Amino acid sequence: MNVVTGTYDVFGRDIKKMIFLENSARDFFQKLGFEEVRTPIIEYSDVFVKSLGDVSDVVMHQMYSFEDKDGSNIVLRPEGTAPAVRFYISKLQHSKPRSKIFYIGPMFRRERPQRGRQRQFHQIGCEIFGFYSPEADAYLIYVASSFLRSIDVKHIVMLNSVGCPKCRPRYTEEIRRYVEGKELCPDCLRRKEKNPLRILDCKLDAEKLADVPKISEYWCEDCRTSFEDVTRYLSRLSVDFRHEPRLVRGLDYYTGVVFEFYHPSDLKNAVLAGGRYDFLVEFMGGRSTPACGFAMGVERICALLPEPAEGSNRSGIFISYTQDVKEYALLLFKALTDMKNQASTYLKYPKESKGDDDEQTRSYNEKLASLLDEITKGKLDVNLDPKRSLKSQLRHADSEGYKFVLIIGKDEMSRGSISVRLLESSEQFEISLEDLMR
Ligand code: HAM
Repeated sequence: MNVVTGTYDVFGRDIKKMIFLENSARDFFQKLGFEEVRTPIIEYSDVFVKSLGDVSDVVMHQMYSFEDKDGSNIVLRPEGTAPAVRFYISKLQHSKPRSKIFYIGPMFRRERPQRGRQRQFHQIGCEIFGFYSPEADAYLIYVASSFLRSIDVKHIVMLNSVGCPKCRPRYTEEIRRYVEGKELCPDCLRRKEKNPLRILDCKLDAEKLADVPKISEYWCEDCRTSFEDVTRYLSRLSVDFRHEPRLVRGLDYYTGVVFEFYHPSDLKNAVLAGGRYDFLVEFMGGRSTPACGFAMGVERICALLPEPAEGSNRSGIFISYTQDVKEYALLLFKALTDMKNQASTYLKYPKESKGDDDEQTRSYNEKLASLLDEITKGKLDVNLDPKRSLKSQLRHADSEGYKFVLIIGKDEMSRGSISVRLLESSEQFEISLEDLMR
C-alpha cells in the first residue's frame, strides 16, 4: 500500500533533522517570549475562505475539505495564521491583547507534488498581535533571520509593501487598466475582478506583465515611511535584504510590509514567508488589532541542514542477558532508568581518590565514569526477547550503533557485578553493581 500522493513517511536521518529543527525553534522562540499554541488540524472552512481570499490559489484549488455528518464544512488547515487569529480572538484578545505566539505542526494543501512542495508539510510560525510599528516588522524579520543563522541556513530576504486600504485601490485599478485587453489565464480573469494584485504572482501570465507599474509608486505617505523605517532598522540590525517590487504574497490578508526568505540555490521556493496583516483580527470578528507574522517550511529547511553524523558516533547502552536472569536484567533496566531520571543527583561516582591510586584502580574508575556518563546522557534499551542468544543480542546492539553492551548472566549475578563491553574496541571489563549504584 502506498502513502497518499504528495505525502511522506519521515524516518531515520530525516526525523533526526526534523526534531533538531523543531527543538531548536521551540528553544529559540520561547527564549524570546513567544508562547506555543497547538490549534486543531481540522477547522471550519469559514476560518480560511474569507481570510485567505476566495480567489487565492490555496482556497480556490488547494484546500482539503469535506462535509461533516452534521452538514458543517470542515477543512484540513492549509496554513497557521488564520487559526492563530481565531485562537487569539477567543483566548487572548481580552486577557493579553499584546501577545507573541508560535506554532509547529502539519499543514495540508492539494498542490502538484514536486521538489519542495508536498501536500502534507510542516510549518513553524510566529505571530505578533497588538503592535502597529515598523519596529515590530523589523524585529520580526530580524528574529526570523537570526533563527535561520543560528542553525546555519543561508538566506536572502526579499521585501516589499503591498500597501494599505488607503493606497492599494489606486494601484489595483492601475493593474486592471494595465491588463485590459491582454489574454489572461482563467484564474487571472477571476483575480482581475476580485484581487488584481494577485495577478502579479501568476506564473502563467508573468511574461505579459514585464513592465507592469510598481506598487511603490502608489504607496501613501504612511506606507512609504513605514517601509523606509523597516529597511533602515534592518540595515542597523545587519540583516541584508532586497527590495522586490513585485513581491505580493499568495494570501489576501496582507497589508503593508511583506517578505519572503530564499536559499541562494533556489529562488523559486521560499523557505520562510510572512508580513503584516492589520485587518485580519477585526475581519474575523475580533477588536481591531494590528498583527504581523511569518511561517517557515520545515521540509524545505530540513533539506538545507547538513546530514546528521553516523557511524563512529556510537552512543547509548544496550542491556543483554541470558534467559535464566531475565527478571534480574529488567530490574537493572529499571534501576538505570531511575538513575537517568535523577541524573543531577548522580554526578558523583568514581571511588574517592586518595591521590595514590594504583594504575588498575585509576583505569577502573575511568571506565566506571564513562559508563555513568553514558547512563545519564545516552539512550538506554534492554533486550525484550529472552530466547535470543547473547551473540545475537550483541550483534543487534552493534548494528544499532550502541556504545556499551551490559552483559548479565548467572556468574555476574552471583558476583553482584555486570560485564561491560565497549562495542567499538570489543574491550570487556567488569563493574561492581555496588560501585555503579552508589
Ligand atoms: P506561505 O507562503 O503560504 O505563508 O507558507 C509559508 C512557508 O511554508 C513557505 O515559505 C514554504 O516554506 C512553506 N510551504 C508552503 N506550502 C508548502 C508546500 N506545499 N510544501 C512545502 N512547504 C510549503 C503562510 O502560510 C502564512 N501563514 C505565513 C504567515 C504567518 N504570514 C503571517 N504569519
